[in-house]
Amino acid sequence: MPSVADHPPSRAVTPSAADTRPAGPGNGAYLYDLWYLAMPGGRLKTGRLAAMTLLGEPLVFGRDPAGAPFALRDNCPHRGVPLSYGTFDGKEIECCYHGWRFDRDGKCVAIPTLVAGQNFDLGKIQLKSYPCREKQGNIWVFMAGQRGAGAEASADIPTIPGLGERYGYLAVTLRFACPIDDAVIGLIDPAHVPQVHRSWWWRPARTAHDKSKRFVPSELGFTMCRHAPSTNSRAYRLLGGAPETEITFRLPGIRTDHIQAGRHVFCNLTAMTPVGPEETEVTNVLYWTAPWLTPFKPLMRPIARRFLGQDRRILALQREGMAHHPPLMLVDDADRQAKWYYRMKKEWTSSREENRPFVNPVKERTLRWRT
Ligand code: FES
Ligand SMILES: [Fe+2]
Repeated sequence: MPSVADHPPSRAVTPSAADTRPAGPGNGAYLYDLWYLAMPGGRLKTGRLAAMTLLGEPLVFGRDPAGAPFALRDNCPHRGVPLSYGTFDGKEIECCYHGWRFDRDGKCVAIPTLVAGQNFDLGKIQLKSYPCREKQGNIWVFMAGQRGAGAEASADIPTIPGLGERYGYLAVTLRFACPIDDAVIGLIDPAHVPQVHRSWWWRPARTAHDKSKRFVPSELGFTMCRHAPSTNSRAYRLLGGAPETEITFRLPGIRTDHIQAGRHVFCNLTAMTPVGPEETEVTNVLYWTAPWLTPFKPLMRPIARRFLGQDRRILALQREGMAHHPPLMLVDDADRQAKWYYRMKKEWTSSREENRPFVNPVKERTLRWRT
């Protein structure tokens, strides 16, 4: 149990002149009618069940006999026990309480206590089933809002271009004790990099210089246009060729850093999935097409974990400060992407409520900052 003395001394905080914290759905609210990255595909083994809470809803995942993933509400409709504690024979899930059985579509197929002549209509018992797909190594689930599951046609699962059929893949998942918004803002924040991700092999802080990047609106988000990466990133040089990078962000919280070096692609996808109001799962996936990179896979994992761990730590510190409800600020241009995020989030929610297409509030703009 830490004593008071274990904590850093409290600091005097001067209230800022303006509280620019956005109002409305920006503050931790969930976004619906979008695909969320539920887990790396390797986490869902054939014949096993995996539980995961998304947007506060408990889901159980499995693979059908063809290997395709499915997702159902993780509550038995009888007495509510999580089905993920039950057994799965590869075709049907059996609840561990009274043995009711469900197929991959969530239909109840057996109630063991029924005797002959008790014509109970099993067809009336249906677990909520979520659209679920595996793409480029990850399992995605569509979280429908009021409009129901049919709305998934309105948005696609993000695709990494240029990967082809054969590519290297590495996924690292960490859980952050913060709301989705803090995680997203941390992810798209260019200003924290020299402070938070300081390493001998990554952007030594003393080489900071002015940046000027052009941004354009893109599907459900914005894109930092293709450019040559900063020459102070030593890791990029390992790729060879003349690498060019394009960074895209889209709702609900998916960032792809796509590097094209000659004919090869190296891509870093980070997806934020809200578990609950104060918990976010962050999955970082590395893709590469150059086969010579594959032997370095054992090295990549600790590096990716370290990077993500640095973000997790700073967000935990932010949570500590946020317990005192301080006013916050968003300062241009470094915080412009955060402002766009809140605006897009608001617009997405309004467009759902008003049953109309999303109108991207981002306008083409060059942003300047120093890192
Ligand atoms: S609670 Fe699941 S079968 Fe009774
Ligand atoms: Fe970061």
